[in-house]
Amino acid sequence: MSTYLVEGGSPLDGSVEIHGAKNSVLPILAAALLAPGECVIHNCPRLSDVEASLAILRHLGCAARREGEAVVVDASSPTRYDVPDELMREMRSSVIFLGAVLGRMGRASLCAPGGCELGPRPIDLHLAAIRGLGGRITETENGLLCAGRLRGADLVLSLPSVGATENAMLAAVCADGGTSSSSGARGRGIVDLQSFLCALGARVRGAGSSVITIEGGVPLHGASHTVMGDRIVACTYLTAAAAAGGHVEVTGVDWRTLSTVTAVLTEAGCAVRSQPGRIELTCRSPLRGVRPIRTAPYPGFPTDAQAPLMAALCRGSGCTVFVENMFESRYRHVDELCRMGADIRVEGRVAVVYGVPRLHGARVRAFDLRGGAALVVAALGAEGQTQVEGLHHIDRGYQCLEGDLSALGAQISREAGKL
Ligand code: EPZ
Repeated sequence: MSTYLVEGGSPLDGSVEIHGAKNSVLPILAAALLAPGECVIHNCPRLSDVEASLAILRHLGCAARREGEAVVVDASSPTRYDVPDELMREMRSSVIFLGAVLGRMGRASLCAPGGCELGPRPIDLHLAAIRGLGGRITETENGLLCAGRLRGADLVLSLPSVGATENAMLAAVCADGGTSSSSGARGRGIVDLQSFLCALGARVRGAGSSVITIEGGVPLHGASHTVMGDRIVACTYLTAAAAAGGHVEVTGVDWRTLSTVTAVLTEAGCAVRSQPGRIELTCRSPLRGVRPIRTAPYPGFPTDAQAPLMAALCRGSGCTVFVENMFESRYRHVDELCRMGADIRVEGRVAVVYGVPRLHGARVRAFDLRGGAALVVAALGAEGQTQVEGLHHIDRGYQCLEGDLSALGAQISREAGKL
């Protein structure tokens, strides 16, 4: 297993172009299965989750290849409707293929998805949406078998689930008749997915609001699309600058999609300038505690930014209360941060961070994607060397974290795993 070695104490300085959004490109790759033609998806990040999605598409009988910053998918003649267990278990968003495979092939066979262990990750809302569209779902000993001709429906999801909303959109595009999906999920990945589906010729409206309408049965064709910048990766680099001190500019992301995070960083004592396409953060003094941070569905404070922000606030003064409302167990980075000298107390969904004057290097382990990124953020502001293990989690969502941070002046390197 490879490891990061981070020498803390170097302020960051420079500009970084943010790569395409993981949580946009994954449903977009599943959607490419719907169109009998070639799709070119630009600004496609080099992530292990993207490779897993391409492997699923190839298994289903599509051609899929990388061409520089883009991937090209040709779903003219898919031949299979089963997603292999080992690919399903690679990531959470493999479940998004349920709607796409069922919509294109008329049936789908898959097991429960994998992904970050953030507490229970049920798929009941995904299945409710598929059943609401007429899909028949049979639970088999190793997963689910879905079949049925899909027909439009008025769907109401009991929770603002991003993934279930995306699954409903993909299936509804192939259903007979119109569908309305009311879920309250307004995430940016949903907006990007709608934009791609419309490029394919689908008639989808309302993404970004609480009700999305889909006109099913419209013939689809191949298309080109450019994936939006990853707001969580941008948040990660801004919190890194807050933790290490210095001046960092991120480009290629819509500043409005992370305004809840930049507002907190400003309250903590950073100087933030947001303009179309770029955000600058300067931090010349230790951070101070801020008002309670409660994670919520978009446009609320993003749960994916909770861990990196917590890591930055560990070193400084004052106290910050976090309330993690989206997932039951999204504090696995806390014990690791405490190994570095952080003072954090967790009670259920509440974490209280007491700022300390300094953190020190330690040997720590990533247990999930954003928690792993948080350990790197903390290490940048710590004294001495930190070893971060479990990089396979980080590689799922960051194209080249060590390369980008090194370019900003961080002392970070990736050591190959010892056999
Ligand atoms: C997406 O996960 C993102 N992943 C997550 O990012 C992000 O944290 C989350 O949305 C925020 O809502 C991708 O887009 C690939 P949800 P998803 O369905 O779709 C419950 C990252 O780090 N729920 O919106 O899996 C669920 O347990 C990842 O990039 C059900 O109860 O999240 C959670 O409490 C982590 N039943 C809440 O809804 C269901 O069927 C929101 O989950 C589905 C979800």
